[in-house]
Amino acid sequence: MRLPFLFVTRARGSVLRLQLRQFLSPDPALWKPQSSTALRFTSTQLSKEDMSFYITTPIFYVNASPHLGHLYSAVIADCLHRYKVLQGFNSKFATGTDEHGLKIQQAAKAAGKDPLTFCTDVSARFKHLFSSCSISYTDYIRTTQQRHRQAVEHFWSVLQNKGLIYKGSYEGWYSTQDESFLTPSQVSDALDSSGKEIKVSLESGHKVEWMKEENYMFRLSAFRTHLLDWLRGNPRAVQPERFHQAVLQWLQEDLPDLSVSRQRSRLQWGIPVPGDAEQTIYVWLDALVNYLTVAGYPDKHDRWWHVAHHVIGKDILKFHAIYWPAFLLGAGLPLPQVVHVHSHWTVEGRKMSKSLGNVVDPLERSQMFTTDGIRYFLLRQGVPDSDCDYTDDKVIKVLNAELTDSLGGLLNRCTAPALNPAQIYPSFCPQSFPREQGGRAVVEDYHMLDAVKGLPAVVEVHYESLDVYKALEAISACVRQTNGFVQRHTPWKLDMRDSKDQRWLDTIIHVSLECLRIYGTLLQPIVPEISDRLLSRLSVQPSERSWAALNFLPRYGGMDCPFEGRALGSDSGVLFSRLESQKGDKQKPKKAKKSANLK
Ligand code: MSP
Repeated sequence: MRLPFLFVTRARGSVLRLQLRQFLSPDPALWKPQSSTALRFTSTQLSKEDMSFYITTPIFYVNASPHLGHLYSAVIADCLHRYKVLQGFNSKFATGTDEHGLKIQQAAKAAGKDPLTFCTDVSARFKHLFSSCSISYTDYIRTTQQRHRQAVEHFWSVLQNKGLIYKGSYEGWYSTQDESFLTPSQVSDALDSSGKEIKVSLESGHKVEWMKEENYMFRLSAFRTHLLDWLRGNPRAVQPERFHQAVLQWLQEDLPDLSVSRQRSRLQWGIPVPGDAEQTIYVWLDALVNYLTVAGYPDKHDRWWHVAHHVIGKDILKFHAIYWPAFLLGAGLPLPQVVHVHSHWTVEGRKMSKSLGNVVDPLERSQMFTTDGIRYFLLRQGVPDSDCDYTDDKVIKVLNAELTDSLGGLLNRCTAPALNPAQIYPSFCPQSFPREQGGRAVVEDYHMLDAVKGLPAVVEVHYESLDVYKALEAISACVRQTNGFVQRHTPWKLDMRDSKDQRWLDTIIHVSLECLRIYGTLLQPIVPEISDRLLSRLSVQPSERSWAALNFLPRYGGMDCPFEGRALGSDSGVLFSRLESQKGDKQKPKKAKKSANLK
């Protein structure tokens, strides 16, 4: 992938570059290395100010209904937000809709609606999807809101007053679908559905058109060195690494100035350029400022803005890792701490698109597989580094194996009246499971304790870097080990009339419930409803579900366990109902059947 090339025909002389230095005195504090505070300090050591966190999703175009890829961006951000809250952070989580621009204007026209009514309808569909899928945003922004218009106008004026915006002209390829400018080398020949010759973007496959018009230009070229410094000084600014490298690579190429407005005669649906009613602000500049709007820009954004983290898909990397930081540097604002990039979901190896008719409807899937089911699948199988292929069958296999059989089976075993007739969190017996060998525990049991003890730290590292699939892999491996522990000691064969056997049985259940408590706590950002059911069954109160409360198996270390002897919570049924294969009837939801081993 290469950066689009933009043509600038005015005001690019060396005199101008010299003047630029004066207002572009880059403040190193704007991109000084940021560390992951949570990894270095415990929550209690951080001040209130340091305990702020701000996470955003991209704002979604309203020209079409939401699809699975959109939900994926939102679920990743939701996971990070929930995890930060568990760690004691005051986290702001923003999502919303991107409502201006030519393609929205055209989509509204095609739907026979006025643009705002059209946007309001589709925006409500995104909101409904997110509420249905437990996306716990704290702010939902629409770029047609007044607060946003004020922020964009202010931001524009700051850039203009600093001499970073000038009147110029643009001539080149433009993709309306991507709202993006392209160089000739980023364009190729193709045929449209009627066999007509057209030009398309090599990257997205979307049709491009030649555009020539007078508009305002942003001095992007002046920021190349600053952007390189920022990226080199912050090797974790864009994650995963391969995307960081991609941005560095783009910056090796020419970085021409950027057209940041369109003639009003061509684009009416957008924010007019302050002081020039003949021009409309470029939709990407408008859209990117949404992150500042939510932070409270221009009056009171400091608290949130210096802890901003963006989650984005790989197709919009250039906008977030080049244009956006350049705009921010120009406006004298700090840069985001991290741009987290994820790859795409494909269907049978092909990009999801309306024209191919292979778009996966996230709302329908959340009804088929439950909200937590689809969340678990997306985060378990989604690998930020590379594209993943979606099939309903894969969802069913993963959920049945890991949620129904492994996790649900373990909970069922440890709470079943046959093994736990008193329905309590039984006592741990140090003689049966001593710190040194000599009791009834075997070497694999000690390995399991080590793995579960170390699990929160492993999960923390993977949640921080948004390699959530690795966190879930680690949790899944531990759940298997705990199932192995129960299986190995066949507690159902112990003689409850024998006091030694009874103590050992209690210990097996106590240890297993402690493992389950850790898994339930760690899984809250992924599957909030399932975790709640699991923890409620174990009688773990809401105040005992934070990261700080994890403290695995204190009795093994000779400390008190607040859960020991507590009555279990009521049995609310299976943790996750077994799903039936959808073969031959892919789109039709089937009724979930109860798992045999969870009865
Ligand atoms: N409106 C812009 C973003 C502006 S942010 C200032 C936009 N909107 S979008 O609706 O097209 O895409 C929103 C998000 O969905 C992006 O992160 C994009 O990568 C993601 N996805 C779109 N298709 C996807 C898949 N097939 N798979 C995974 N995510 C994908 O871009």
